[in-house]
Amino acid sequence: MLKNSTAQSQSRLQSILWQGSTLHLLDQRRLPLVTEYVVCDTADAVAEAIQEMVVRGAPAIGVAAAFGLVLAAQQGENLEEKATLLKAARPTAVNLMWAVDTMLQTPVSDWEKKAFALYDSDVLVNKAIGEQAQSLIPENATVIHHCNTGSLATVDYGTALGVIRIAHERGKNIHAILDETRPRLQGARLSAYECQAFGIPHTVIVDGAAPWVMRTRQVDCCIVGCDRVAANGDVANKIGTYALALAAKAHNVPFYVACPLSTLDLATPNGEAIEIEERSTKEITHIQGQLICPENTPVFNPAFDITPAALISAIITETGIITPPYADNLKALKSQGL
Ligand code: MRU
Repeated sequence: MLKNSTAQSQSRLQSILWQGSTLHLLDQRRLPLVTEYVVCDTADAVAEAIQEMVVRGAPAIGVAAAFGLVLAAQQGENLEEKATLLKAARPTAVNLMWAVDTMLQTPVSDWEKKAFALYDSDVLVNKAIGEQAQSLIPENATVIHHCNTGSLATVDYGTALGVIRIAHERGKNIHAILDETRPRLQGARLSAYECQAFGIPHTVIVDGAAPWVMRTRQVDCCIVGCDRVAANGDVANKIGTYALALAAKAHNVPFYVACPLSTLDLATPNGEAIEIEERSTKEITHIQGQLICPENTPVFNPAFDITPAALISAIITETGIITPPYADNLKALKSQGL
């Protein structure tokens, strides 16, 4: 059972706080209407918060899990068991496994320091992704974005939304079209909240409107984050990303993926080998606790999908922009020491 925290953040958008040896997570289930932190004082509580999507977004859940291990060590718990529990909280985002493995490769006495290093480096990495991407974002660009990939999905700044934020800060007069992102509404609730906080011009659309917007308005590119990139360049991201990429291809709109190198999983050959999380059918059948389908309606609720590499114009990382052929170019990156 998750507990409310009394922690106060400096910013409305700080997803993760470490205070007084406990982890405080901004409860993203309640944003934008309620700003409240959940306190996690055990690794079990962190795993539950990740599973329940109090904290969400690939980089943010990785950093939260790292602090979950710090809590486990503080309390003398079985560390291997807690590492396994944290990794299993959500199966698709490889950043979660990467962060836990990075901690396990560090002496336990340095875990708190290491968790803070992951925390700090996430911000720098996101800013670097945003810088790298600017050559792809023209002045006066209208950009379609899916899900939430901003400060809330990371420690700060964000990946795809970070690219948009930097373009805005540079005075590029960018306009973000935000897919609402059914069923958890990360676009309508969280990305709109972030754009409003940073003064970024934006418009929310329902997911199904994106192809029509591409057909009837000037759209310069789509930019999304991701949860895992396979060795052949296939990308796992929030459900609806694949449909957006298909529409972008049909309308000749460039489709960009922004992610840190920690999202690349070259041990996984292709998208078919990526486990896609299925979440509760209630996410679809209920809105604000209210049943909207007939009782017992059959529902399928994959939380992510795979966008084939062939639909992706470029993958933007903190060290540079990767273009096709992805299998070769990702392998080359690996040989440079990834
Ligand atoms: O289910 P969520 O909200 O955790 O899904 C988030 C996404 O799919 C993001 O696009 C991805 O994690 C990248 S966040 C920088």
